Amino acid sequence: MSTSDFDIYTDGACAGNPGPGGWAAVIMEGGRAREISSHEERTTNQRMELKAAVEALRMVPPGSRVRLFSDSAYLVNCFNQSWIDRWQKNGWLTGKGQPVENRDLWSELLELSMANTVEWIKVKGHSTDRLNQRCDHLAREAIVSAKENGSPGREGNSEAGGKPGPEKFGVINSRTQPGGKELPAKNPGVRRLGLLTGGGDCPGLNAVIRAVVKGATYNYNMEVVGFNNGFRGLVENDASLLDDFAVSGILNRGGTILGTSNRDNPFDFRPGGSSDYRETDNDRSGDAVKNLEKWGIECLVIIGGDGSLLLAHRFSKLGVPVIGIPKTIDNDLPATDVTFGFDSAVTTATEAIDKIHTTAESHHRVMVVEVMGRHAGWIALQAGMAGGGDIILIPELPFEYQYIVDKIRERHHRGKKFSIIVVAEGAYPEGGEPMYQTRGDVKRLGGISSAIAREIENKTDMESRATVLGHIQRGGSPTSYDRVLATRFGVKAVELFREEKYDEMVCLRGHNIESVPLEEAVGGTKRVDPASDQVRAALAVGTSFGYPI
Ligand code: F6P
Repeated sequence: MSTSDFDIYTDGACAGNPGPGGWAAVIMEGGRAREISSHEERTTNQRMELKAAVEALRMVPPGSRVRLFSDSAYLVNCFNQSWIDRWQKNGWLTGKGQPVENRDLWSELLELSMANTVEWIKVKGHSTDRLNQRCDHLAREAIVSAKENGSPGREGNSEAGGKPGPEKFGVINSRTQPGGKELPAKNPGVRRLGLLTGGGDCPGLNAVIRAVVKGATYNYNMEVVGFNNGFRGLVENDASLLDDFAVSGILNRGGTILGTSNRDNPFDFRPGGSSDYRETDNDRSGDAVKNLEKWGIECLVIIGGDGSLLLAHRFSKLGVPVIGIPKTIDNDLPATDVTFGFDSAVTTATEAIDKIHTTAESHHRVMVVEVMGRHAGWIALQAGMAGGGDIILIPELPFEYQYIVDKIRERHHRGKKFSIIVVAEGAYPEGGEPMYQTRGDVKRLGGISSAIAREIENKTDMESRATVLGHIQRGGSPTSYDRVLATRFGVKAVELFREEKYDEMVCLRGHNIESVPLEEAVGGTKRVDPASDQVRAALAVGTSFGYPI
């Protein structure tokens, strides 16, 4: 650990005076947090407060600048009001001439405080300060696990009364530590779940992670191990324990605190994170399975789209108990009515269409807005309807330019000098094919909006512009709908684990959260039905689909 600034939170707790006691500290260096805790058999509350501060300060290199936060007024005042200097000068006797209790710890603390620049800061006991609460929680847990197991603290990270053992890392401000860090041994009787996010990021992933961790730890005393960067972390053993602290404050955050990848296939693995799609014949699924066994993980929960869920099913065939949670902004998975992330993407796209109306109206232009969705038109249909798109083009209904032009002209004659076209990235003209952008071996859907804008300028005397919304549809905070759906999915996955119902994917059916066999879930693509009432409703309010229906 290099010399730098540290914020240290400490707390002690005791069940009786004297009685079994616990202490804990959270040591923050930048965005990274380390937690240490342990217990003593017969001790006092004061001793535990001191012990926490001593053990934490032992962890920083001499010469560090430290802010130490404690809810013990006695400890903080001792330094801020120079009592400790007076005791020392007085031969470790108090003002009343009594020997100072816990002299061993006070004198070590004095040495450690002189070796560093320490600012002692008093926080309110059981305050709303989450790190103070965290220490209190860990210290109490250390007592409980000591009582239950007659063993070290919850992470097994000390001998009774001895030195702290291996560090435990929480996930703070997004990412965990890379590189195959040793996880704490599983406590007897505790069941362990593995968790990873695979495929493209999507609003609501963090809400699912939080729900799995809280659902498992609060209700069933389970542990959750998070693998970083999708299947890559599973293969390379890049993992950390996730507890309620690690997932606190992430419900409304976009992206995934675990990181993700839509390239890494353990059955065909590319080393070094290279970003092409070449096949390697490098099957690392065996390493992935070994890592699960090594950490005593009984079941792997995979949050992902069709690609990740397919991999989940392959692991299941290898005998790994797996549970899938469907994720995609595209909403194209057949076995669930809705995937989380979709509502957020539609909301973002709708807001963008609302804004594009301004330029369309002011400049009398035809504005073409390209949205994501792969080969399904769900985002285009819903955002198009919600944003009042005049023409919606979806892959399920190949369009004809003539009908688009007819619609624009018809609007013009009615005095509507502008039009908004919402086009799915996978849409294409009748007789044609979806458009791709290619870079090397990699092909990505995209470009149809520019082609349409060009064609409109050729066929009419109107100006036309294309806007590709791209990844902003995957970014930002999830909508309340997605947060709730994600939470229900996460909690259901934990229930499936409890029931040992594996090789299943959680899903939404009507208003209920259910599950379906993964095998069923990974087949095919759910696409818009042109005869559905959604499409009919759009038609009824005058929307064109660029095709006569
Ligand atoms: O599946 C989600 C999605 O955003 C699609 O709508 C889009 O076609 C694709 O992913 C883009 O993937 P990438 O970020 O890998 O280019």
